[in-house]
Amino acid sequence: MNIPATTEFELGVCYYPEHWPEELWADDYRRMVETGFTIIRIAEFAWSFFEPEEGVFQFDLFDRAIGLAHSYGLKVILGTPTATPPAWLTERYPEVLNVTYDGVTLQHGMRRHYNYSSPKYRELCARITAQLAQHYGTHPGVVGWQIDNELNCEINVFYSESDHLAFREWVQAKYGTLEKLNEAWGTVFWNQTYNSWSQVFLPRPTPSFNQPNPHQALDEKRFISDNTISFARIQADIIRRLAPSQWVTTNGLFGHLDSHELTDEHLDFFSYDSYPQFSSIYYDAGEADPLQDRNWSLSLSVVRSVSPNFCIMEQQSGPGGWVNRMDMPSPKPGQMRLWTYQSIAHGADKLLYFRWRTATVGNEIYWHGLNDYHNQPNRRVREAARIGRELAEAGKHIAGTRSQADIAILRDYDNEWDGEYDVWYGPFMWQSNKEWFKALQKRHIPNDVIYMRSKTTLEDLIPYQVLVYPHPAILSDETASLLDQYVQQGGKLIFGCRTGYKDTRGHCYMRPFPGAAKDLCGITVEEFTMVKGTRLPTSIRWGNASGTLTGADAFNDVLQVEAATVEVMGTYASDYYAGKPAVTRNRRGKGEVWYYGAVFNAEAALQIIDSLSLESPAADWLELPGEVELQIRKNENASYAFLLNYSEEPAALQIRHRKTDLLTGEAISGSYSLEGFGVLVLY
Ligand code: GAL
Repeated sequence: MNIPATTEFELGVCYYPEHWPEELWADDYRRMVETGFTIIRIAEFAWSFFEPEEGVFQFDLFDRAIGLAHSYGLKVILGTPTATPPAWLTERYPEVLNVTYDGVTLQHGMRRHYNYSSPKYRELCARITAQLAQHYGTHPGVVGWQIDNELNCEINVFYSESDHLAFREWVQAKYGTLEKLNEAWGTVFWNQTYNSWSQVFLPRPTPSFNQPNPHQALDEKRFISDNTISFARIQADIIRRLAPSQWVTTNGLFGHLDSHELTDEHLDFFSYDSYPQFSSIYYDAGEADPLQDRNWSLSLSVVRSVSPNFCIMEQQSGPGGWVNRMDMPSPKPGQMRLWTYQSIAHGADKLLYFRWRTATVGNEIYWHGLNDYHNQPNRRVREAARIGRELAEAGKHIAGTRSQADIAILRDYDNEWDGEYDVWYGPFMWQSNKEWFKALQKRHIPNDVIYMRSKTTLEDLIPYQVLVYPHPAILSDETASLLDQYVQQGGKLIFGCRTGYKDTRGHCYMRPFPGAAKDLCGITVEEFTMVKGTRLPTSIRWGNASGTLTGADAFNDVLQVEAATVEVMGTYASDYYAGKPAVTRNRRGKGEVWYYGAVFNAEAALQIIDSLSLESPAADWLELPGEVELQIRKNENASYAFLLNYSEEPAALQIRHRKTDLLTGEAISGSYSLEGFGVLVLY
């Protein structure tokens, strides 16, 4: 096969020249180049070096660090240092500090202790960004910029005085009149009616465990997102003006931020920080069959929904840990390489390890980089060098290709943000997403994630055979109608419980559930209940009386068939609604719509996958055991199948067509034993 060379793949590392004696720099750069690195990211926390006192700017240290990197052929990504305002700044302008919900001001001593609304902070951030962009905007070694660092990481709520004022302005612009605001926030309830704008604030502490008005709480998240974007925009605009030939990105995927809008409007591409071991800390608690680091592939699919080809600005390269939390084991031999190709399989075209050498001071003395404190040769550096050698050639073919999937999980920001507060459906989304992912992984079916936005069109949806929209409680008639067009032309759409009963303000419709999706599904919800407390676990029987039983988790919508085109695919097998419809399929146009009355588990998702006869895109030539992930990147000329073994043990593969491994050039066919944590990229 003719493999086209596309753009260059970039491999690199995050570096902090200001943390080390200058005598180390040349040796560091030399060894980076030997490791196969071509790019470094620097300076994102170094404000005090550039502006040691207000209005006094100096660049000498970074001029030397960047100049030397350039002389070694390393490209440089410059971070704007606005995630860590200097002590002089917060002392002189305390109004830039963030304040908690309870009114506590967050002080200097950690990072991200500022708010986005303070006009003073915006002014000072604009000034330091302009100084940097002016100074480095034409530097031949500088190729791009990272705005701030991980917007909305550490904390993603803001209650300083400036935030309340900015929120009030935002609300005024959105609603125009108090009458409309009162209507949208349902202030008729509990006498919350406002009759002057001066009474309007972000949510503030309230009696009964701090429970603000839910419609106001949803608008709060929308405001934070808009406010974060407008903060980032100031820097993006300055860099575009003063450094027009360098690209602009930012890193991270955090709450209360529409990363799609941010990227579409202000960035060249999106970047992400990939720490697969966070899975065990955040996602796997209490799970019998946890996916662990493989869960990260679902997060990477979300990143890909923002930017099909993205940068991993920080890739885990050692044990992770802060002094007092986030304690992660050391990646075993091969695991760092596995995670590197996991990121690449999902769309990374640039990848930088975090970090070159472990910090010897500060909160992150246990967040290990490639090199240990002692700076002697170690296994992780050798593993990185192997990856560097592989990607020097393979990267040319991979860069620019796109990940492929026939099935997408749908999400949207309104439901994520409203669901954060609304426990009647919010938590369900995370379970259903993960369980669908698990089921698809069991069948080796790659999936995308698509965010439903006001900009989403039919063309965005048509490439997929199947869309799963687990619990869109908020569903407008416009979105339902777009989904209907998708179904009419042959698409298959799957909803879970609690679909379609709220409008975009978070008001419950005075319509039978599933509200805007009623005609699509051809059913109504006769009644519903949580499955918790004194209620025993419930189950669903699929097909006829001898059909498989699966759990009906967390919430049960009891369904009533409303259209002749509807077939009942499963019935409840327990509780007083035993025998009533639990799962339905409505044939509509050339497509079909499923309604599943509970929260998904992998077993239920597998029932649907099998009914739809979905199979792996490589089913005709490849047989894989469960522990191996398949992900495909393609362009018009080539298709690369990434096979990632998450197990420590070898995995037995059957490869029916003759293939070549892009990483080694080895020809492969028949039975093949893929080493523990092994990777193949077959074409
Ligand atoms: C990221 C952050 C880095 C470093 C790393 C390890 O979230 O961008 O600066 O803190 O995590 O904790």
